Amino acid sequence: MAASYPRSSLESFPPALYPDYKSTVKRSPRQELVRIPHTLSELTGPLYGRESVRPGDDDLTGQHPGEPIGERIIVHGRVLDEDGRPVPNTLVEIWQANACGRYRHQREQHPAPLDPNFTGAGRAATDAQGCYRFVTIKPGAYPWGNHPNAWRPAHIHFSVFGPSFLSRLVTQMYFPGDPLFAFDPIFQSIPERARPRLISSFDLGNTVPDWALAYRFDIVVRGRDETPPTP
Ligand SMILES: [Fe+2]
Repeated sequence: MAASYPRSSLESFPPALYPDYKSTVKRSPRQELVRIPHTLSELTGPLYGRESVRPGDDDLTGQHPGEPIGERIIVHGRVLDEDGRPVPNTLVEIWQANACGRYRHQREQHPAPLDPNFTGAGRAATDAQGCYRFVTIKPGAYPWGNHPNAWRPAHIHFSVFGPSFLSRLVTQMYFPGDPLFAFDPIFQSIPERARPRLISSFDLGNTVPDWALAYRFDIVVRGRDETPPTP
């Protein structure tokens, strides 16, 4: 485990202020940041792992009496540390819109139908090789109020803890070939070389015949090759 984390992680970060992404105008700091050294408990403290996960939490299609509407998919990958080593027994949480692009949330405004058989949240822990796997529904694109005719590319939100509290990462997974990438300021705010790390790859080898397509999304917490954080 690292005794401190390299500053090179920040090279994958979007800038705090990115005016095309309107929320950053109000929330970005106006003062120079103050560096605070990492403390021992931040690096060695207890973490969330398998004990947080109940049976079935990794299957978002099985949380209600009926099956949700939409395209069933498998989303899987590995969680890796800054040196490319697998991170075992770490908590991976996801949340997402349904197949129509609608979140089950009281502030949701998009006039698309809710699915009574889909909540849109799940969790899993990585195994000894750092692997995780979810079964879910492919989310739809949805509009948001950032600018006229603004639509988010289909995405799944991820929270990953990694080897320490300081390595916690909140990010979004996208699907290959989405035509909305070029018009999405959240995606465009990521440094160009790091954007491909946010896009899952279609995985025929793990696609289950007659049942579900698979997508692979490996996540690197911290370091030069870090998966960029997104809100
Ligand atoms: Fe979202």
